[in-house]
Amino acid sequence: MEKKMNKALTKKNEKTSIFPRGFFWGAATSSYQVEGDIVHNDWAKAGEEGKVPKAGAACDHFHRYEEDFDIAKELGHNAHRLSLEWSRLEPREGMFDEEAFRHYANVLKAIRARGIEPFVTLFHFTLPLWFSESGGFERRDAPEIFARYAKEVAIRLSSYCTHFSTMNEPNVMGSNGWLRGSWPPFKRFSLTSLVSITNSDKTFERKAPSRVSNLFVYLRVMKHLAQSHNRAYEEMKRVSPALLVSVVKHVILFHSNQNVVNRLFAYVSNYYWTYKFMNRVKRHIDEIGLNYYFHKKYGDREKYEKSDMNWDIYPEGIEECLMMLSQYGKPLYVSESGVADREDRFRADYIERQVRGVARAIERGAPVRGHMYWSLLDNYEWALGYDMRFGLVHVDFETQKRTIRPSAYRYKEILLAHGVE
Ligand code: BGC
Repeated sequence: MEKKMNKALTKKNEKTSIFPRGFFWGAATSSYQVEGDIVHNDWAKAGEEGKVPKAGAACDHFHRYEEDFDIAKELGHNAHRLSLEWSRLEPREGMFDEEAFRHYANVLKAIRARGIEPFVTLFHFTLPLWFSESGGFERRDAPEIFARYAKEVAIRLSSYCTHFSTMNEPNVMGSNGWLRGSWPPFKRFSLTSLVSITNSDKTFERKAPSRVSNLFVYLRVMKHLAQSHNRAYEEMKRVSPALLVSVVKHVILFHSNQNVVNRLFAYVSNYYWTYKFMNRVKRHIDEIGLNYYFHKKYGDREKYEKSDMNWDIYPEGIEECLMMLSQYGKPLYVSESGVADREDRFRADYIERQVRGVARAIERGAPVRGHMYWSLLDNYEWALGYDMRFGLVHVDFETQKRTIRPSAYRYKEILLAHGVE
């Protein structure tokens, strides 16, 4: 009964809303952050070595995905973004694990069975050990290695899913791994304070010796990541031309006051953080995922409220980020955006302001097709472990009990209303 009413409500609202019909509303997760008991990747090894917190059982989502998708459904979601754990699927170089593929096929079926559209990312930061230990994306043949994996994914999973992203936030992975030295493979270049804009914390930063040469390694890695995306795109489309293949791009909104020098800073920063990579992949994308978390305004005097990550609360920035990406002329999805808010004090308001920002971008012509909040569940926040809570759903990591936060119901109201008045 309630289901029918929700459907009717959505239909009615779709008619009048600025959000296009069939707009995707949902949340996102990633394999290593939620599944639990993943041992053969670079992050698990770094955890064993004490360089980052251990992920351990995480949310035990590997076994509890049905329960979690029930929650997503109850919350009215019609889309869900998840990632595949490459180290499960290709545990040894060139050897693909059929059972692991069956697991993900079941996961995708479970999502679809609840009327939810899956959006799958092929790798979300974590690399199989055999790959990372042999150089990972520093390897010249990395694009071929990644394309081989992408092809196998397309062969086995394209009947369950249409929207695939090759990778999550290449720039974040590159800068944390090869400039800041805070994420695997912990390589550092001394000017890293200039790029300390992403999700790691000084407490956990590796005191890896800084080398100038790491800057060049970083540049090579970024090139290889773009090439890997392009090669994977080609292979996946060859297997199944109907797939919609994207890249998930982390965009920082660099903006400024009117000062000319500050404007120049913002321009250059946006070029290096966003456009450079996008220009390299723009001929190999069917759609684009936007991950938006923060902005940097040069010459800004304003005081912002801060999230638990100590990031400015500025969800409005999403509008301009969508406009930046809309110049590539492809459908856009907000593939992640969220706030660490243990007490659930800001989240509902944050989501509301953000959805208004998305609506304004649509009004200005951005082809936005979906919005996925980060994250469905509280989870392993990389170098910060389990302290940061981004979830619509609170997870008790001792008991694995899930509790839906009030803000999740506010998001439900918004999506049933198909936006905010
Ligand atoms: C990443 C997520 C992460 C989130 C919050 C994004 O950059 O894709 O894995 O948990 O930010 O820091």
